[in-house]
Amino acid sequence: MRTVFLGGGRITSALLAGLCLANFRRPVLVHDRNPHKLRRLREVYGVSIGTDLHRAVDKAQLIIIAVRPASVADLLRQIGKVGRPLYAVSLAAGIPLKNLRSRLGPSVRWARAMPSPASRSGRGLTALTFDRGFPAAAAREVRTLFGKVGSVLEIPESKFDAFTVTYSSSHGYHALATLAAAAGKIGLDRETALTAAAHALADGIVAWREGNTSLTALLHEAATPGGIAAAVMQAMDRARYGRVIERGLKAGLRRARENAKKN
Ligand SMILES: NC(=O)c1ccc[n+]([C@@H]2O[C@H](COP(=O)([O-])OP(=O)(O)OC[C@H]3O[C@@H](n4cnc5c(N)ncnc54)[C@H](OP(=O)(O)O)[C@@H]3O)[C@@H](O)[C@H]2O)c1
Repeated sequence: MRTVFLGGGRITSALLAGLCLANFRRPVLVHDRNPHKLRRLREVYGVSIGTDLHRAVDKAQLIIIAVRPASVADLLRQIGKVGRPLYAVSLAAGIPLKNLRSRLGPSVRWARAMPSPASRSGRGLTALTFDRGFPAAAAREVRTLFGKVGSVLEIPESKFDAFTVTYSSSHGYHALATLAAAAGKIGLDRETALTAAAHALADGIVAWREGNTSLTALLHEAATPGGIAAAVMQAMDRARYGRVIERGLKAGLRRARENAKKN
């Protein structure tokens, strides 16, 4: 399938990097309103580029909507009705299929995907959901495309916003920055604090993902009852660590729902 990315920003760049790494050989074209971004993508990833939106869409069998949620309606208006079979995958956070379904006409079939910048290294995770009537063969192509840059998870659309707010690399970076800052306050220099925090967060989680020991067992092993790690965790729980995370996720959900209302 000839795939055309509409929007050549951060997530497109991460996906292209992952596809390159995976030696993805199928034709890919990127359209963006900024010619300098397109030139850079061509230079770095060897993709075709197109500054003319209609020509780009005309060449596509699969379009990937990779503009910000607030720009989606405008982009789809510019495309107008498409009078031939076309598959469209929207990456736009929060915008439901019901808002997209009729925008390009009845011959366009829609799906949503939620990848992350971790796709860049081939270690991403992408949630997918397909609208009714999305043909099985085309769905296979979409799964294959995102499967090149990491794991693929198919979930019902009703879970998409919850997945979006939970699956963000920002959680890891935020936790890293917060843990390192706290370590700085109790006496570690910045470099040692970041190194210790990065190992603390990443190594155990990688081991959990790659092994088959339960999270409860690993937590028990890492925090001996009555020991230092247990004291740290208890203090954090008393300060309502879980509640803080929950509030963060709920704020993300509210934002996703605003995207749905506005767009
Ligand atoms: N970044 C992530 O980690 C991530 C992860 C999953 C999903 N997503 C979703 O992916 C979408 C893109 O996110 P992003 O972070 O890649 O955004 P971004 O870096 O802002 O990239 C979007 C690109 O599309 C261009 N654009 C906007 N409207 C256009 C139009 N009408 N015609 C042509 N080009 C247009 C933008 O140009 P200007 O700069 O001139 O506006 C920009 O170059 C969003 O809907 C987001 O929810 C992002």
